[in-house]
Amino acid sequence: MTVYNAAISEYIRDLFAQEDEALRFIRQNTPERGLPDISITAEEGRFLSLLVHACQARIVLEIGTLGGYSGTWIARALPPGGKLITLEKSGLHAQVAEEHFQRAGVSDRVEIRVGDAHQLLSKLNPQAPFDMIFIDAEKPGYPEYYAWALDHVRRGGLITAHNALWGGAVIGEHSGEGINYVREFNLLVARDERVASTIYPAGDGTLVAVKL
Ligand SMILES: C[S@@+](CC[C@H](N)C(=O)[O-])C[C@H]1O[C@@H](n2cnc3c(N)ncnc32)[C@H](O)[C@@H]1O
Repeated sequence: MTVYNAAISEYIRDLFAQEDEALRFIRQNTPERGLPDISITAEEGRFLSLLVHACQARIVLEIGTLGGYSGTWIARALPPGGKLITLEKSGLHAQVAEEHFQRAGVSDRVEIRVGDAHQLLSKLNPQAPFDMIFIDAEKPGYPEYYAWALDHVRRGGLITAHNALWGGAVIGEHSGEGINYVREFNLLVARDERVASTIYPAGDGTLVAVKL
């Protein structure tokens, strides 16, 4: 029996993922500043923060900053001295995120690097291995990000990727560029014996893989 639906999601959000003033501001202000309204949901944010705690992460990498909403959930779960490095190709998005991280009181533990993540990754060797990597940028890039992540996350560390359900279109007859990329990526990870993986179905779905 499956009971998961929008009402259940709201129940979980109300119980476990309540936003404080800063998180609410970031979620609302991001589209008001002209950025796309595609931040993760509060339940997904709570899930990411739980993963940070579960793997006792000290250093986390995010690919795709936007306005810093997911970054704030992640950064707040880090222990003292912990660090989030987040990669963003848009200078405007990075600037808005910087303001948001300050407002949320986490700028001391967040470093935003601006540029194309595919280029920026090669400069991250000194910070590796990461405890957790969250992929939330352009979908055609996911296989390359994942391959890099497997080489640069520690054993027992987590690789997570957003939009694994693509608005529900992963099932059924839907076709199109985005959905094909997401289906192929999910299949790639599901068949990869170097990780134990699944999809957490809140919001648009977060794929989670533990490096074995
Ligand atoms: C879905 S949004 C990220 C949402 C964010 N993680 C959150 O929930 O708050 C994707 C972001 O990735 C950025 N992006 C897309 N392609 C990129 C690339 N190749 N390198 C770096 N950033 C990229 C976009 O500019 C956008 O800000």
